[in-house]
Amino acid sequence: MAGTQREITFRFLAEPGDVNFGGQVHGGAVMKWIDQAGYACTVGWAGTYCVTAYVGGIQFERPIKIGQLVEVHAQIVYTGNTSMHVAVNVSARDPTASQPERTTHCLMVFVALDAERHPTPVPKFEPVTPEEQELSNYAQEMMKMREGIEAARRKFLQKIP
Ligand SMILES: CC(C)(COP(=O)(O)OP(=O)(O)OC[C@H]1O[C@@H](n2cnc3c(N)ncnc32)[C@H](O)[C@@H]1OP(=O)(O)O)[C@@H](O)C(=O)NCCC(=O)NCCS
Repeated sequence: MAGTQREITFRFLAEPGDVNFGGQVHGGAVMKWIDQAGYACTVGWAGTYCVTAYVGGIQFERPIKIGQLVEVHAQIVYTGNTSMHVAVNVSARDPTASQPERTTHCLMVFVALDAERHPTPVPKFEPVTPEEQELSNYAQEMMKMREGIEAARRKFLQKIP
């Protein structure tokens, strides 16, 4: 049912097929996991098909090694009318270790689409706990900062074919 699943966690081992030319996990593989977790999270919230509209602030803080246990956690932190803002954390640990380390974090925006593939309203996320409020504030702060980034992007795009 829509509006009942606010977060989701993927857990799996980084496989040899995920390797990059340096012997560690490929950044593209991490981005795919992030997108998949964000998608599963927002579809669970909206109860309808969703598309990625924006991926922001992605930073690869630490490499992930092949064979490490990876955790990708996605949670809704803010909703607009048809958009859902999702904070995604990726962490990894050796399967024999107890403490995972954060490797990547980003904030994404997904948009819910109806059967005609038009943006459609989503259930509202109401932050209750101080942590939820803080995450919601973070999403709104990032949204304001994007206005400046978007203006610079549009200006640049006008100049190129
Ligand atoms: C995302 C998409 C559906 C938005 O369509 P649109 O015609 O711009 O729709 P609207 O202007 O009505 O915006 C719909 C919502 O998306 C949000 N949105 C659109 N572009 C955005 C962006 N770049 N960053 C953040 N939010 C964005 C709007 O703020 C609005 O949110 P709200 O309803 O909560 O206020 C459209 O741009 C699209 O299909 N993009 C391609 C998606 C895609 O292929 N993704 C990769 C594969 S899944």
